Amino acid sequence: MLTPLIIGNWKMNNGIREAADLVIKLRELLKGVDSVDVVIAPPFTAIYHLSHLTADSPMQLCGQDIFWEKSGAYTGEVSAEMLADAGCRYVILGHSERRQRFGESDATVNKKLLAALRASLKPIVCVGETLEEREAGAAISRVTAQVRASLAGLSGSLVKDVSIAYEPIWAIGTGRTASPQDAEEVHNAIRELIYEMFGTHSARGVRVIYGGSVNAGNIDSLMSQPNVDGALVGGASLKAEEFARIVRFKHAAR
Ligand code: 13P
Repeated sequence: MLTPLIIGNWKMNNGIREAADLVIKLRELLKGVDSVDVVIAPPFTAIYHLSHLTADSPMQLCGQDIFWEKSGAYTGEVSAEMLADAGCRYVILGHSERRQRFGESDATVNKKLLAALRASLKPIVCVGETLEEREAGAAISRVTAQVRASLAGLSGSLVKDVSIAYEPIWAIGTGRTASPQDAEEVHNAIRELIYEMFGTHSARGVRVIYGGSVNAGNIDSLMSQPNVDGALVGGASLKAEEFARIVRFKHAAR
């Protein structure tokens, strides 16, 4: 079984003071957690400060995006190397909010993926269908096309550090979660595709995690699915007690 991966995506929330308060609470609440990879993705401005506060805790830091060049005249952008330097170990790529609002495409996600791995950051590649695509029966074809294009050209030796986050767009911030069975069906299709692309041996460490209105009430049933290896949590990750309960999920029947 893969080590579960639970990520709190704070999105554009929390200044340095609020971020520090939340991490200090989480440090207490997460004491003793050692069988789950716990990751938080604060805004860029809080990362360096939090790198001190998360040392000697189960929490690891994650960026919410990068640009693919190392440095240069790219006003407003931050490189993978800069995030690693600030203390990050992971980076979220291709979140649907970036795809929908900032023109992110599978091609740009692919460039960012290779840049992240160059800097030894572990990429979390987000994919997911719209409600129209799901209702048209196209969820799996949409998601697998995104995975195929986002991971194009990746060498088999690097794929083990990649995680895929399945986040159906209609479930993000809506309070509407995919049923555990629907999530499992898509996760299974993603896993089969990754095996097909990279071979079972290289790809067996790839984690496929679910995101979209994950909370303390639905995490146990989601994590009980055989192909759900973790969660990408938005709103509920801003509340210390709730996020800690998500990290301490209970397997129902795994
Ligand atoms: P919510 O958990 O707020 O629905 O957000 C999900 C998400 O987008 C995580 O990246």
